[in-house]
Amino acid sequence: MHINGKHYHTIWVKENDPKTIQVIDQRLLPFEFKIRDLKTIADTFIAIKDMCVRGAPLIGVTAAYGMYLGLLHLNEKDNLTTKINEFSQYLKSSRPTAVNLKFAVDLVLDKIKSAKSINEKTKVAFEIANQLKQDEIENCKKIGKNGVRFIQEISKAKKGETVNILTHCNAGWLACVDYGTATSPMYLAHEKGIKIHVWVDETRPRNQGARLTAYELEQQGIPHTVIADNTGGLLMQKGMVDMVIVGSDRTSANGDVANKIGTYLKALAAHDNNIPFYVALPLSTIDFEMEDGIKNIPIEQRDPDEVKYVEGWNNDEITRVRITSENSPALNYGFDVTPAKYVTALITEKGVAKANMNDIEKLNK
Ligand code: MRU
Repeated sequence: MHINGKHYHTIWVKENDPKTIQVIDQRLLPFEFKIRDLKTIADTFIAIKDMCVRGAPLIGVTAAYGMYLGLLHLNEKDNLTTKINEFSQYLKSSRPTAVNLKFAVDLVLDKIKSAKSINEKTKVAFEIANQLKQDEIENCKKIGKNGVRFIQEISKAKKGETVNILTHCNAGWLACVDYGTATSPMYLAHEKGIKIHVWVDETRPRNQGARLTAYELEQQGIPHTVIADNTGGLLMQKGMVDMVIVGSDRTSANGDVANKIGTYLKALAAHDNNIPFYVALPLSTIDFEMEDGIKNIPIEQRDPDEVKYVEGWNNDEITRVRITSENSPALNYGFDVTPAKYVTALITEKGVAKANMNDIEKLNK
């Protein structure tokens, strides 16, 4: 997608330097635009852990490049099997909820298995990371094609009046490589001339909605309004929301959806107001091995200071201020799980599925 009219992906191989992977530092957006170099597996681990890159599909692609960078710096004296095992454990430990991380690392592990030498394995890992990046771009594009009809239908029912879509957190191109998941149908609808407006939940504590989704939509010229996280329910009661589209960090085989903290409450409010609640996600976000997401999806707990402090732009720099009394403790769960029964449908690159075991299993065939 575009930033100031220039097309970007969130991650790419540096021009004329295949030993360096470059990413947009998302911790600074929308205030500053900086590109970071990742040269080692530790660089990728830190980029994921510190959320320089974030969002389930992008975490996966970054981890695949991380495996490549790890292999690149091995030498003949290293015990290959031990090292590769260490790399995969290390990367998988960077963030717990997004299953794309495991998916990507396991994909690389599987594909490099039959390669004999370090050089050969490194070459295969590089190809797989590039391929995964390309696949996630295509997947997101297809999610847009498969999801746009739901916006079209509402637009038709409203006789061309603006369709109001509520979204939570950032499941946009910044969370992926291009197009995004939840945003992909929105971008396509806009391209087709369907009038849309997006309610953007600010998404405390890190404000990915206010900082990233709003920025993305602004850059693509899509009408949108940032709202405080607790506003959605009221807007739904007032008839100001036609549909909800969110992304996911891990969806279990029975259709329970882990997504940024606060999603569950939006699903409850949507259910109470008969508003369709869609989840847009690639298959790399579905944990086909996990049967019950509510019981089993690991929920990341982050530094309580993310709750106690907010960041903003002041006097030409990013500034951090405390918003609680110094000694009040805070609790910071990163995600929640929306039970499958509140999900109208899952929109994937393979088509649309009901959030149940049977339909989800069919996607995997
Ligand atoms: O903690 P983050 O920023 O990595 O969380 C990811 C998200 O933004 C989401 O929860 C998103 O909706 C799913 S990722 C496409």
